[in-house]
Amino acid sequence: MTILVTGGAGYIGSHTVLHLLDKGEDVVVLDSLEKGHAGALQDVPFYQGELRDEPLLDEVFTKHSIDAVVHFAAHSLVGESVEQPLYYYENNVLGSHALISKMVEHHVKHIVFSSTAATYGEPEQIPIVESLPTAPTNPYGETKLAIEKMLRWCEPAYGLKSVSLRYFNAAGADPKGRIGEDHLPESHLIPIVLQVALGQRQQVQIFGDDYDTEDGSCIRDYIHVMDLADAHYLALKHLKQTGSSEVYNLGIGQGFSVKEVIEVCRHVTEQEIPAVVAPRRTGDPATLIASPEKAKAQLGWEPRYTDLSEIVAHAWGWHSNHPNGYEKDK
Ligand code: UFG
Repeated sequence: MTILVTGGAGYIGSHTVLHLLDKGEDVVVLDSLEKGHAGALQDVPFYQGELRDEPLLDEVFTKHSIDAVVHFAAHSLVGESVEQPLYYYENNVLGSHALISKMVEHHVKHIVFSSTAATYGEPEQIPIVESLPTAPTNPYGETKLAIEKMLRWCEPAYGLKSVSLRYFNAAGADPKGRIGEDHLPESHLIPIVLQVALGQRQQVQIFGDDYDTEDGSCIRDYIHVMDLADAHYLALKHLKQTGSSEVYNLGIGQGFSVKEVIEVCRHVTEQEIPAVVAPRRTGDPATLIASPEKAKAQLGWEPRYTDLSEIVAHAWGWHSNHPNGYEKDK
């Protein structure tokens, strides 16, 4: 199979490219490199550009016999999306519209779409099953939900089949240390805590300790990026075997509080990691835990890394060996 991966130089995209190559698939990458890193690219055909660059997409779909698309390319900062909603709708929704239109034009029938737990907003129940109502609390989640819905309508109209994967909290790095996580600015908990362990930050702020949780800090479901990558591979197989269009949650089904995550990081890094309690971050739900049962039953997916220490150890392997990330790009 030849698979076009948009956003293949980003965090989850680049790990998925590695995994697809390990599985013997042919991969073509399209990435603007606005957020992604040249250093995360593998030795595959690469096109630098935007999804809305129609001649570029025509070139990609004409030069390569693309069987399926795995679509990551998007802006994904919740806070930024609240400040600049139009920018997020433009980049995420219009970008996806352009990509999907070109897929239809070039008769490419399968897409795996990178969605998010942010589509649920404040969930009515935990663990979160896919049938719960979607009610995003920020423009980022809204744009992802809008794309899911756009894809749903494209199946009856154009025969375009899709799998939307709603990620919970992606974490960790390639266990072999080839690539890892590098965001600028960094806003995710585990990399921030590891930056404290590296002495790059003085302390980590715990955003709120008065939530309705056992220790008062927010609970999240941390899923290894390689397990996410494997779910994309299985979703592609599902579509190829004439599976139906579906939405799946991807998490391990277990939650860890911010305080627990910091404690695990202290243990793994053997560093003190000072932490202070800070005000709540706007829009953070108290608890997000996935029910991954549907993906397990229908895709045959089984997360391999269910021990948070191991997930953090892989992240630490990357961060301690690459304290400045893909510094050559910067
Ligand atoms: N947190 C801190 N201190 C920090 C950073 C984060 O206490 O310095 C807390 C947050 O408040 C949250 C938890 O750590 O409770 C995890 O925060 P992250 O920013 O790492 O991840 P989020 O859960 O906010 O975001 C993730 C994805 C988003 C997605 C969202 C869905 O990264 O893309 O889940 O709710 F939109």
